[in-house]
Amino acid sequence: MQLNKNDVFIVDIIDMNIDGFGIAKINGFPIFIENTITNEVCEIKMIKVTKKYGIGKLLRIISESKNRVAIHDPKGTWVGTMPLQHLNYETQLLLKQQFVAQTLKKVGGLNINVASTLPCDALVGYRNKAQIPVRMIDNVLTTGFYRKNSHTLIPIEDFIIQDKYIDFVVLKVRDILRKYHILAYDEITHSGVIREIIVRRSAKLKQVQVVLVALIQSFPHQQVIIDEICQIEEVVSVVLNINSKITNVILGDENIILYRDDYIFDELFDLKFKISSRSFYQVNHFQTEKLYALAYQLANLQSSDIVLDAYCGIGTIGLPIAKKVKHVYGIEVVADAITMANENIKLNNIHNATYICGLAEDVISQFKNINFDVLFVDPARKGLDEKFIKKSVLMQPKKIVYISCNPTTFARDLKMYHELGYCADIVYPVDMFPQTAHVECVALLERK
Ligand SMILES: C[S@@+](CC[C@H](N)C(=O)[O-])C[C@H]1O[C@@H](n2cnc3c(N)ncnc32)[C@H](O)[C@@H]1O
Repeated sequence: MQLNKNDVFIVDIIDMNIDGFGIAKINGFPIFIENTITNEVCEIKMIKVTKKYGIGKLLRIISESKNRVAIHDPKGTWVGTMPLQHLNYETQLLLKQQFVAQTLKKVGGLNINVASTLPCDALVGYRNKAQIPVRMIDNVLTTGFYRKNSHTLIPIEDFIIQDKYIDFVVLKVRDILRKYHILAYDEITHSGVIREIIVRRSAKLKQVQVVLVALIQSFPHQQVIIDEICQIEEVVSVVLNINSKITNVILGDENIILYRDDYIFDELFDLKFKISSRSFYQVNHFQTEKLYALAYQLANLQSSDIVLDAYCGIGTIGLPIAKKVKHVYGIEVVADAITMANENIKLNNIHNATYICGLAEDVISQFKNINFDVLFVDPARKGLDEKFIKKSVLMQPKKIVYISCNPTTFARDLKMYHELGYCADIVYPVDMFPQTAHVECVALLERK
């Protein structure tokens, strides 16, 4: 049977993917339908048909899943900030666990046990950082998010998953910019002023940093705008980032500090951390403490241990355990983050930590004469470099604790470690981002 755009069908949803789409089949031909759930019966309209699959739009639910819950805001589904919001939390956790197991098998050919997903206490309001695009809509500077797979900005004021105070600050900044008739960036004509508003708020110490990403270095009423932003309660840092390129990359290379300094402070466990705008810092503060606690438990640290914290950012994995082990080494490619890590050593009165700036896959060679007991790796989404994996195995650490934010590259890297003799028996998924498709994984690898 030939399927065509605009055809209407009644279908059984037989499965779901991690992006919150239910899957139906018509004569074996797969159709993906947003906002549907396994075992539902739905009326759908075809909105796209390709050779391999179709996309359907939900018209009506005929038989509803018991796992469906009322959504927070349909815009969260359209823009992809909350693709799982129609699922109850138990089902979100199960979906993430199944996705990790399937990915380990499909990508890595690995049949590893996957534990139940570690839940997050806060299901909304957990993000401590917002990166909000700014565009003109009907001649008014507007903040929101892009409709999935498009450059169309949908105005959003309450992001639900962000700290409510961050939403408040974004709107305050938006209103100040509106008051002075500042133009938002126009990507078609590559003109205008403000591209993004970035707000980070430390969860424990309640300090706020505002970064304005602008096309140009100065704009009308700049000083009075900054003065008004500084009046917003908790704001302790305002930075102007210049991004004059035609690009989807958010940050440009140049930062101009407009108010006080380019950092804020937060506390993680019982340590204080200095965080600059260019440094990575986990966005779900309280779940991060659970994630790291699990990683430390797997490492079973001893006072004689020498530890390597690769991809260390500002030192948030290594420094909390420094006083419990013999020495911590860290590697990180972002120079600014290493500056913060070195300051964080001093801030916490730590005397047995050494941080080196560079690519982990290169810098690790400098350590070939050190007998590491535990190696923590926490790479970005692209996972580990092959060279890093090979070099780390040659160093023969007793344990490798791998923390990953991308199950696909995690499965690829685990496969390589398994082939080189370092194996994991169990993988622990951790939910750092309720309502979203993201899942963090932690595993202990030991020589077998
Ligand atoms: C997921 S973050 C983890 C940071 C830190 N462990 C934490 O939990 O806050 C990954 C870090 O790896 C850094 N990075 C990316 N590629 C790298 C590389 N090839 N070598 C060293 N660091 C790298 C990034 O700048 C980022 O700080």
